[in-house]
This record gives sequence, structure tokens and C-alpha cells, in this order.
Amino acid sequence: MRTSKDIDGPLETPVRFVFPQWSNLLLPTVIGAILVVPIYAALVLTYGLSPVTHNVGYMPIQPIPFSHKIHAGELGLDCRYCHNTVEYAAKAAIPPTQTCMTCHAQVQPESEALKPLWESYGEGTAILWQRVHDLPDYVFFDHSAHVERGVGCATCHGRIDEMDVVFQTQPLSMGWCLECHRDPEPNLRPLDEITNLAFDSLRDQTAQVRRGLLDISHISPSEDCSTCHR
Ligand code: HEC
Ligand code: HEC
Ligand code: HEC
Ligand code: HEC
Ligand code: HEC
Repeated sequence: MRTSKDIDGPLETPVRFVFPQWSNLLLPTVIGAILVVPIYAALVLTYGLSPVTHNVGYMPIQPIPFSHKIHAGELGLDCRYCHNTVEYAAKAAIPPTQTCMTCHAQVQPESEALKPLWESYGEGTAILWQRVHDLPDYVFFDHSAHVERGVGCATCHGRIDEMDVVFQTQPLSMGWCLECHRDPEPNLRPLDEITNLAFDSLRDQTAQVRRGLLDISHISPSEDCSTCHR
């Protein structure tokens, strides 16, 4: 039989040692983790929320002040003149020095801005263009799968033909990819408008025309994880 004396007295000490003071924090932490982790996971899966910063506006300094505004805009060169793998491959090639030299051997050969181009040409070394758009390595992306199905450069890269220096206009997050994969119709255009950045798929064609593009080509982008994570 325990007496009131036992409870007030010696018994108290061993009980404290079984559950030390800091253990008071343990339960809230565990409950917090149980609640927060699945919510976070659900958000990541549903909306593609991510702790990674999405570099909208990212504009690295390039080794040569190459201007898309001059070359694609004013001179009207087609994107595929330089990015000539974009319709056939996952990667859109960055043009080699030789492509620039087809014109610049004659055009402004004395230009200060073109010094690194001549160096590269003379020494046979590549120009170290800085990447602007760069998905994490665990994501698979394929240009040809989009360009050949009626998604134009402007949808994912903005008005490159008006940029003196290229910058990222879209978040390139998982949520951004999925938003279009769930409902691609507003972003479809005829294949001959793929590199026409002035063409606006919503403004310049009716919903009926877009629906036609979707149906005729049986366009239905996948939302399976393995499409983009393989
Ligand atoms: C005369 C060649 C040339 C033409 C034409 C051209 N580009 Fe480029 N493009 C380049 C070069 C060189 C770079 C790398 C330097 C830079 O980022 O400015 C580049 C970079 C880019 C990038 C950024 C690549 C990265 O690192 O993420 C995009 C996007 C791009 N071009 C899109 C286009 C689009 C869209 C068109 C058509 C409207 C186009 N380009 C026309 C030469 C060209
Ligand atoms: C189809 C011909 C053509 C090609 C290909 C071409 N350029 Fe040009 N580029 C021009 C012309 C023309 C101008 C001059 C535009 C002006 O002054 O209005 C120019 C201007 C420039 C200038 C500005 C020079 C200055 O001093 O103002 C740079 C830098 C340049 N180009 C870099 C490049 C690079 C790098 C490439 C390859 C990725 C390239 N160009 C490919 C025709 C071309
Ligand atoms: C559906 C969206 C989408 C479309 C459409 C698209 N791009 Fe891209 N582009 C991207 C993404 C995403 C990257 C970054 C890829 C990576 O990091 O692996 C990229 C990268 C690039 C690069 C850098 C080289 C590379 O492949 O990583 C160039 C150049 C480029 N795009 C040009 C173009 C041109 C030109 C067009 C139109 C003919 C175009 N893109 C259409 C999303 C798109
Ligand atoms: C603006 C619309 C749009 C955006 C943004 C977009 N996609 Fe797509 N994607 C499509 C369409 C349309 C297809 C072609 C579907 C078809 O052929 O039925 C496609 C196809 C693909 C395929 C090819 C699947 C296969 O069967 O080979 C991959 C991979 C892919 N997308 C990855 C991505 C990734 C990664 C992103 C984001 C960085 C992205 N997409 C952003 C519209 C989009
Ligand atoms: C259409 C392409 C696409 C599909 C489909 C897709 N993802 Fe992703 N996912 C991406 C891209 C792009 C990123 C990189 C986003 C970033 O940089 O934050 C990413 C990032 C992630 C990340 C890392 C997020 C973080 O916080 O860094 C996880 C986890 C992930 N995806 C899981 C999934 C799962 C699970 C599925 C299937 C339900 C799935 N993804 C389907 C494109 C896709």
C-alpha cells in the first residue's frame, strides 16, 4: 500500500529521470513532423512547389555581347539557323563559332565586341557561353517533343527576338510543366508558326482552331512521373 507520504516524497525523483526535461519538446516536434511532411509532399506533388529558387529574370553575362534583338529581330534570322537541332533532338544546339563567321568574316571584322570570336576562330576553342535555362539533372526535357507538336519557342522563352541579353521568363518549375501538360490547348499553334515569336496562340486563333490542332494530332501530354523523371 502506498501512503500519501510516498507520493509527496521519494517517489517523485525517479519519475523525473525517466522522462527528462527536454522530452517535453519531443511530442510537439513529432506531431509537427507527422503533420508537415505529408502536407509538404502533397504540395510538391500537386503544385510542384519547391524550395529551389526559380530563376525568372536570370540573365548571366555572356563572353560576347551577342544580341538576339539584332540577329533574330532586326536581321530576321530564323531560330533554327543557329539552334539547328531543336526540331530533332532533346537539346537545342548553341551554334559553333563557324556559324557566326559565315557573316562576321565580312561583317564588322574590326569590331571590339567580336575580338573573342576571332580568338575562338583562330585557336579553334569554343566560346564559353553561359547557360541561362538549366533544369536539375533529375529532370528529363525534350525540345523536339514540344516543337514538333505545336508548342512554340515564345511560350517557354518569351520574346527572345526583343532581348539584347537573353533572360529566363518562365519559372521552369514542375508546377509550370504540369499546368500545360494538363491543359495544352491554349498553348498550341500551327507548326509553321513555331519560331514566329510575334504569333500569340490565344490572340491569333480561335478556340475552335486550337481544339482542331489538339484533336487532329492526338496531343495528350503525359503527367506520369516517369515522363520527366527517368
Ligand atoms: C545567329 C545565331 C542565333 C539565332 C538566329 C538565334 N539564336 Fe538563340 N542563341 C544564340 C547564341 C550564340 C546563344 C548563347 C548566348 C546567349 O545566351 O545569348 C543563344 C542563346 C539562346 C537561348 C538561351 C540558351 C540558354 O543558355 O538557356 C535561347 C532560349 C535562345 N537562344 C532562343 C532563341 C530563339 C527563340 C531564337 C529565334 C527567335 C534564337 N534563339 C535565334 C544564337 C542564336
Ligand atoms: C546572317 C549574318 C550574321 C550571323 C550568322 C551572325 N551575325 Fe552578328 N551581326 C550581323 C550583322 C549584319 C550585324 C550588324 C548589325 C548592325 O550593326 O545593325 C551583327 C552584329 C553583331 C554584333 C555587334 C557588333 C558591334 O560591334 O556592334 C555582335 C557582337 C555579333 N553580331 C555577334 C555574333 C555572334 C556571336 C554570332 C554567332 C552566334 C553572330 N553574330 C552571327 C550578322 C550576323
Ligand atoms: C515546352 C517549353 C519549351 C519550348 C517550346 C522551347 N524550349 Fe528551349 N528550353 C526549355 C527548357 C526547359 C530548357 C532548359 C533545358 C535543360 O536545362 O535541360 C530550354 C533550353 C533551351 C536552350 C539551351 C540549350 C538546351 O537545349 O538546353 C536553347 C538554345 C533553347 N531552349 C532554344 C529554344 C528554341 C529555339 C525553341 C523553339 C524552336 C525552344 N527552345 C522551345 C523549354 C522550351
Ligand atoms: C506550354 C505547354 C507545355 C509546357 C510548358 C511543357 N510541356 Fe512537355 N509537352 C507538351 C506537349 C503538347 C507535349 C506533346 C504531347 C504529345 O505528343 O501528345 C509534351 C511532351 C513532353 C515530353 C515527351 C513525352 C514523351 O512521350 O516522350 C516530355 C518528356 C515533356 N513534355 C517534359 C516537359 C517538362 C520537363 C516540362 C517543364 C520543364 C514541360 N514538358 C513543359 C506541352 C508542354
Ligand atoms: C511534365 C514534367 C514532370 C512530371 C510529369 C513530373 N515532374 Fe517532378 N519535377 C519536374 C521538374 C521540371 C522539376 C524541377 C522543379 C524545380 O527545379 O523546382 C521536378 C521536381 C520534382 C521533385 C523535387 C521537388 C523539389 O522540391 O525539389 C520531386 C520530388 C518530383 N519532381 C516528384 C515528382 C513525382 C512524384 C511525379 C509524379 C506524380 C512528378 N514529379 C512528375 C517535372 C515533372
